[in-house]
Amino acid sequence: MKRIAICPGSFDPITNGHLDIIERAAPIFDEIIVAVLNNSSKQPLFSVKERMELISEVTEHLPHIKVDSFDGLLVDYAAEVGANAIVRGLRAVSDFEYEMQVASINKKMNDQIETLFMMTNNQYSFLSSSIVKEAAKYGASVAGLVPPVVEEALRHKYSKGELK
Ligand SMILES: Nc1ncnc2c1ncn2[C@@H]1O[C@H](COP(=O)(O)OP(=O)(O)OP(=O)(O)O)[C@@H](O)[C@H]1O
Ligand SMILES: [Mg+2]
Repeated sequence: MKRIAICPGSFDPITNGHLDIIERAAPIFDEIIVAVLNNSSKQPLFSVKERMELISEVTEHLPHIKVDSFDGLLVDYAAEVGANAIVRGLRAVSDFEYEMQVASINKKMNDQIETLFMMTNNQYSFLSSSIVKEAAKYGASVAGLVPPVVEEALRHKYSKGELK
């Protein structure tokens, strides 16, 4: 059986913290699907298409990575694409509380799909897409927090006056 894992998230935009999790998960599975949640209740800075393009660019060096998007229930999407695992990153105790709830309900809905947690790399434990956007919005450098292509995309967005 092919071992397929999903790394789900908003990725608005992808950070070095996300990339670190994807890079570490990649050798454990035959295929990783990085799946962008198309969440209509959040007002994103980057469109789903833009987010997917950035993810594809920064994961180009990794084999067996697919980039996709989904809406609705993650377990339904996982079953649809034949995935047997969901990989989530944990930054802090605060992540754990929420993630445990989600993993438990997902397990109840589909017990064929395991949720696996990976501890953040210490250097990225404070890093989130929101923090990066906040910094970039006010012109602070986000070098080292996101890949260079994402840095450039953020500069471009905010130079157009998009203050999301
Ligand atoms: N710095 C990080 N280290 C480890 N895992 C991370 C890091 N940032 C995000 N993740 C994980 O990546 C997955 C997708 O998260 P998500 O897209 O919500 O990112 P986020 O940075 O938390 O964005 P936002 O600030 O919009 O909430 C989640 O499993 C999340 O825990
Ligand atoms: Mg978050």
